[in-house]
Amino acid sequence: MSSQRRLSPRLSWKRIMSVFFLPLISSGFAPRAKNKGKENLPVGEAGLGEAGPQPHQSRFNWSHLTPLELKDRMVGLQTQSTPESNPHFTLEGHKFLIFGGSIHYFRVPRGSWRDRLLKLQACGFNTVTTYVPWNLHEPQRGIFDFSGNLDLEAFVWMAAEVGLWVILRPGPYICSEIDLGGLPSWLLQDPELRLRTTDKGFVQAVDRYFDHLMARVVPLQYRQGGPIIAMQVENEYGAFAKDRAYMQHLHKALLNRGIVELLLTSDAEKEVLQGSIKGVLATININSFQKNTFEHLQRVQRDKPIMIMEYWVGWFDTWGGKHMVKDADDVVKTVSEFIKAEISFNTYMFHGGTNFGFINGATDFGGHSSVVTSYDYDAVLTEAGDYTEKYFKLRKLLGSVLASPLPPLPELIPKAVYPSVRPSLYLPLWDALQHLNEPVISSTPVNMESLPINAGNGQSYGFVLYETPVCAGGWLRANVRDTAQVFLNETHIGTLDGGNQNLHIPKVKGCQLLRILVENQGRVNYSWKIQDQRKGVTGPVTINSTPLEGFTIYSLEMKTSFFDRLRSAAWRPVSNSSVGPAFYLGTLQAGPSPRDTFLRLLDWSYGFVFINGRNLGRYWNIGPQQTLYLPGAWLHPEDNEIIVFERSKSGSSIQTTDKPKL
Ligand SMILES: *[C@@H]1O[C@H](CO)[C@@H](O)[C@H](O)[C@H]1NC(C)=O
Ligand SMILES: *[C@@H]1O[C@H](CO)[C@@H](O)[C@H](O)[C@H]1NC(C)=O
Ligand SMILES: *[C@@H]1O[C@H](CO)[C@@H](O)[C@H](O)[C@H]1NC(C)=O
Ligand SMILES: *[C@@H]1O[C@H](CO)[C@@H](O)[C@H](O)[C@H]1NC(C)=O
Repeated sequence: MSSQRRLSPRLSWKRIMSVFFLPLISSGFAPRAKNKGKENLPVGEAGLGEAGPQPHQSRFNWSHLTPLELKDRMVGLQTQSTPESNPHFTLEGHKFLIFGGSIHYFRVPRGSWRDRLLKLQACGFNTVTTYVPWNLHEPQRGIFDFSGNLDLEAFVWMAAEVGLWVILRPGPYICSEIDLGGLPSWLLQDPELRLRTTDKGFVQAVDRYFDHLMARVVPLQYRQGGPIIAMQVENEYGAFAKDRAYMQHLHKALLNRGIVELLLTSDAEKEVLQGSIKGVLATININSFQKNTFEHLQRVQRDKPIMIMEYWVGWFDTWGGKHMVKDADDVVKTVSEFIKAEISFNTYMFHGGTNFGFINGATDFGGHSSVVTSYDYDAVLTEAGDYTEKYFKLRKLLGSVLASPLPPLPELIPKAVYPSVRPSLYLPLWDALQHLNEPVISSTPVNMESLPINAGNGQSYGFVLYETPVCAGGWLRANVRDTAQVFLNETHIGTLDGGNQNLHIPKVKGCQLLRILVENQGRVNYSWKIQDQRKGVTGPVTINSTPLEGFTIYSLEMKTSFFDRLRSAAWRPVSNSSVGPAFYLGTLQAGPSPRDTFLRLLDWSYGFVFINGRNLGRYWNIGPQQTLYLPGAWLHPEDNEIIVFERSKSGSSIQTTDKPKL
């Protein structure tokens, strides 16, 4: 989108100044630059005093610029800059600002997509943005899944029906606090392969994925009658920037596959210098709006409108950390400054949803910590899609600058409290092994991704159990990722993790089975560390420096097929709280019309909850998260099977509550 016309130095200086001094201008300390010539555009200047627009000022009127109204699709979203006006976006030739909000379809139960999109629109937004997670869409090489909760096309068309535009962020790397930043773990099988570079193995895998994905996306584009007005090239590559040719390759990969709408990159303020590429609109991601926020952006691009691709209205949590929140008034103040300066923006997240199953990513700043199950993010809607103070305040603000009245608020979603569940049966992990797939037999330990299972694609998520006989004690040494419980037969003798690779094995009576149960707690989603996210046991296991051999390796992927088989296992009655990894089976009675609720596992320690075979995610008594979101849409009327996989000490019951505790 590079413009041929050079700006006069005087004009661009003015523009830079007006951007640099925005906070001053907005707080009334500086005169507003009178640089709006006569524009024959349907957008007036929005007044944004505390009490909303001044009566004489017109407001943004985009009522004819929605996917439902706009039938002539010739030019789509473009950037424009003329000597008389600041650079701005146009949609089909009409001046336009993007008021966007992020909702990730894969983090929201499909049955709730429409509700969340309607709420986005009723808040005054015109665009939804979403990432596309490669790891979930291509779980095995060449096997694609766009069904159910992963039906990207259905989500995009639903946005159009509701009247929202879509900006798609297809990666291949998306970060997003998801496992390995959305890259499939089978890429890690090749030790030479360098992720996010033009390394042949990586590029070939991306190209094959894009062949499939873009064939689905092309018909969803604006000019084909769909709602996609823009697409992002990769994600925050400036923070990585290891290969200059990589972004060019991806840019071409999109163009060659028929992507014709506006392309953009998205980077942190400073990293825009490394992450932006020629011919693609640079956008930035920010936490707050300061005087020099646009300094670096202006260095790479002066004659384009400013777009904040991610304005962080909250933040994610990690286990063992504290719950992050952001003040609603701060958010509203910042958004009002964007609007006053006619800056397009996307709130990240408008609605965060949930890291169901094993999809959470992790951070590693000298120690691994995994992202919690909830992706509430202190966003504009809560994890369960409920209104917040941020929602109402933003709605008031956006409502005050839009010409047409906002759609009515969708109804509240009722929550329920159900009788607490006392699991009556349990099954120690050791008794469940026979219901797993055939174990892998190997002389040496094999890391999770390299296990010869799943048609050669290895194991992506969950637990792996390594067993080998030992007949003498001593110092055990093993490199495990991320954390492991160690047993002799069924007796727990200690734990290992990334920072603690040694454990003393007491004297063994006869020969016993050394059992190492390793859990992948989520792969890092950022930085060069992504190259090295292999999980399970990742090297030799030794006792007193002698390597152990003869391993039996069980994969605990916790798939639905496993739970189907588990129903016929020899479950035992629960007498007292038991210790050790085990499954607990109970029934949640949801009555005739099930509703959303939150599970509370008060005296349990660590594990996962499966409701009718669906993995609700991890609970952990170190917090901060204390309740798990259970969508009503996943409950059957009356009885629901609930299985808890508890790693160490079980509690007596599972409670439900109508209020989340994060
Ligand atoms: C995962 O990504 C976020 C940015 O979205 C970052 O803050 C976090 O630290 C990342 N994890 C790392 C660096 O391990
Ligand atoms: C907005 O613009 C449309 C099309 O130009 C016009 O029909 C409509 O009356 C306008 N709405 C308001 C509230 O000004
Ligand atoms: C440990 O388990 C093995 C195999 O099941 C069994 O042969 C052995 O007797 C057990 N050892 C002890 C001390 O329980
Ligand atoms: C359960 O535990 C309690 C307290 O530890 C003990 O007194 C009781 O005998 C146990 N009951 C059974 C059935 O094991």
